[in-house]
Amino acid sequence: MLVTQDRYLMSRLNDSHPKQKFCCGVEVLNKYLQKQAGQENRKNIAVTYVLHDQEADQIMGYYTLSASTIQLQNLPESLSKKLPRYPLVPTTLIGRLAVDSNYQKRGIGEALLIDALRIAHKTSDEVASFAVIVDAMSESAKNFYQKYGFISLSSDSRKLYLPMKTIRKLF
Ligand SMILES: CC(C)(COP(=O)(O)OP(=O)(O)OC[C@H]1O[C@@H](n2cnc3c(N)ncnc32)[C@H](O)[C@@H]1OP(=O)(O)O)[C@@H](O)C(=O)NCCC(=O)NCCS
Repeated sequence: MLVTQDRYLMSRLNDSHPKQKFCCGVEVLNKYLQKQAGQENRKNIAVTYVLHDQEADQIMGYYTLSASTIQLQNLPESLSKKLPRYPLVPTTLIGRLAVDSNYQKRGIGEALLIDALRIAHKTSDEVASFAVIVDAMSESAKNFYQKYGFISLSSDSRKLYLPMKTIRKLF
């Protein structure tokens, strides 16, 4: 259990959450929550966190977190030259993040992103992670992440990163 108010509760996805009602306007993100998220959780591939409106019994939004890596050579030289010459750099991946259409444009996406960064930052004290990375599924999603300072990786402009050093200043 992460954040508690009487009506809204942030927690890990469990079987009692009403997954089937979730609709964010991007079918692949609806289907992920409905069909894949539980399995990926059980298989230690990704943990899904959901914000639940308990009064309406509706999932307002969700995001996933996993351990990941990026190639050192895909970071800008100004950063990579300060790092050890290992080919891979440890990171934390926000694989998916979505807000139900009924709750969009009310600050929920921002709240989910900040919660994901908070957990990534907290866990990086115990298991090192150089940056949080995101896979933006569209130009619109990319614009959303750029608003919060995420920077495109040179190899793949849909993949963006935010250094843990920057995130640390938030918390
Ligand atoms: C993108 C998404 C997560 C935004 O969620 P939201 O709850 O509507 O966003 P918020 O209300 O928290 O907006 C926070 C800020 O981001 C801005 N923003 C929201 N969506 C944006 C977008 N697509 N592009 C640029 N900025 C965006 C808002 O204007 C707001 O800025 P402001 O405070 O200066 O006005 C949501 O629209 C969504 O789930 N879309 C479908 C799935 C998706 O594309 N997910 C992206 C990850 S793959």
